[in-house]
Amino acid sequence: MERLAKEIETCSACNLSGSRTRTVPGEGPVPCRIMLIGEGPGKKEDETGRPFVGRAGTILSTLLSDIGLSREEVFITSVVKCRPPKNRTPGREEIASCIPFLHTQIEILSPEAIVTMGRVASAAVFEMFEIQFPSFKEVRGRAFPVQRQENADEMLIIPVYHPAVITHNPPARSILEEDFRQLGKYLHTIRDPL
Ligand code: URA
Repeated sequence: MERLAKEIETCSACNLSGSRTRTVPGEGPVPCRIMLIGEGPGKKEDETGRPFVGRAGTILSTLLSDIGLSREEVFITSVVKCRPPKNRTPGREEIASCIPFLHTQIEILSPEAIVTMGRVASAAVFEMFEIQFPSFKEVRGRAFPVQRQENADEMLIIPVYHPAVITHNPPARSILEEDFRQLGKYLHTIRDPL
């Protein structure tokens, strides 16, 4: 994983490399049982090189602790490893050039559950595993079992709302909390009792 982070650091495969301050490869235990994937680094992440350390990160830490998880026990990353200017949604080509890094991270971590936060991360991961993605609303809060590789153990993909949703839509807090409560229930099926 460290070698991969070095590779990401020098990547210039898409134009996001031209405007980034730092790359944000992700962090957490290696291997790890639960992996969380967001959309892309924001301002604070770009400055520090660490994932989810801004406002969305504070919300995420609370949501995780509410379901008995600490940040230290999950691996957190995003679909693109460089900040899109003005926090715009990463484009198709940017996602396509960055997705091999995410794919390798999944291989290295061999998690039992991947939590995709928001539409962008969910659509990208569903495409990676060739799962139908009718719309984010239809898949959020549900668990999708997939086989990472032939003969590998089954892994769950669990899409939830992105924690940043409540920074621009405060009433969405209840659906965000509902998704994480649901997530907590799914994780009980794969983790030792909390
Ligand atoms: N949002 C993301 O999707 N990723 C981060 O690292 C921070 C905010």
